[in-house]
Amino acid sequence: MAKRVLLIGEKSDIGKGIKNSLKKGGYSIDGTSSKTLDLSSRESVDSFLSKSDKKYDSIIFVAASNIPKNFMKLKSQDFDESIDINFKSFVLILRTLIKKMPKNSNSSIVIISSLFASSGRNGRFLYSSSKHFLNGAMKNLAIELGSSGIRVNSIAPGFIDTKMTRNNNSKDSLKKIIKKIPIGRLGNPKDIANLVLFLLSSKAAYITGQELIVDGGITAGGFWED
Ligand SMILES: NC(=O)c1ccc[n+]([C@@H]2O[C@H](COP(=O)([O-])OP(=O)(O)OC[C@H]3O[C@@H](n4cnc5c(N)ncnc54)[C@H](OP(=O)(O)O)[C@@H]3O)[C@@H](O)[C@H]2O)c1
Repeated sequence: MAKRVLLIGEKSDIGKGIKNSLKKGGYSIDGTSSKTLDLSSRESVDSFLSKSDKKYDSIIFVAASNIPKNFMKLKSQDFDESIDINFKSFVLILRTLIKKMPKNSNSSIVIISSLFASSGRNGRFLYSSSKHFLNGAMKNLAIELGSSGIRVNSIAPGFIDTKMTRNNNSKDSLKKIIKKIPIGRLGNPKDIANLVLFLLSSKAAYITGQELIVDGGITAGGFWED
């Protein structure tokens, strides 16, 4: 029987890439979007969980809010939105669904985090802080779930050619960023999807608790001006 995957954020550009690759890989996918599961609303999360009777082999968390504002300009609702979408709702979903995940059968949780889960960026206080939180969750869950055979990892994409990247970086700043990427281009969603496919496979059976960077080499030195 095909392995069943829950893909939270299937309509994001990276989510679409992951969905295509998983389909080709023979997985059975249940995807959610902000219309079917609004992560900013506790009612929506509770209603989704009360209706969800499936056992997922793997869960992939792709959705995120990115509010590019400086710390002192943030409003109280910005904090709530970022924490609810990027972290709290995912944790609530996991607390219910993990109980139903098969044990010792190469189950896997994959979180799409960010380079800004381990560094900061001007004007990205909430995005970066919430992604740091997610990475902490990933490591702690990997420790707690390892004995059940459930692996937990995160993928930190570099600059991927998506709506989020184009909305939050001017054309000029993207040109400067590309100059710093050793591979010489923005990433594309398939670059991330390929690693998701690997992490779900039995080839990754001994990989857990890791943040895997897919960034065309930018963090290998691309931040430096030469
Ligand atoms: N693009 C990059 O360069 C890059 C780099 C590092 C990390 N990432 C990460 O990759 C993931 C996907 O990003 P993307 O670039 O593909 O961006 P995107 O297309 O803008 O996707 C954003 C996603 O968040 C979902 N979302 C927003 N508010 C939501 C809510 N209230 N409830 C449920 N879902 C909500 C959107 O759902 P709907 O479409 O259904 O509204 C969409 O799936 C994010 O976690 C992002 O942090 C991206």
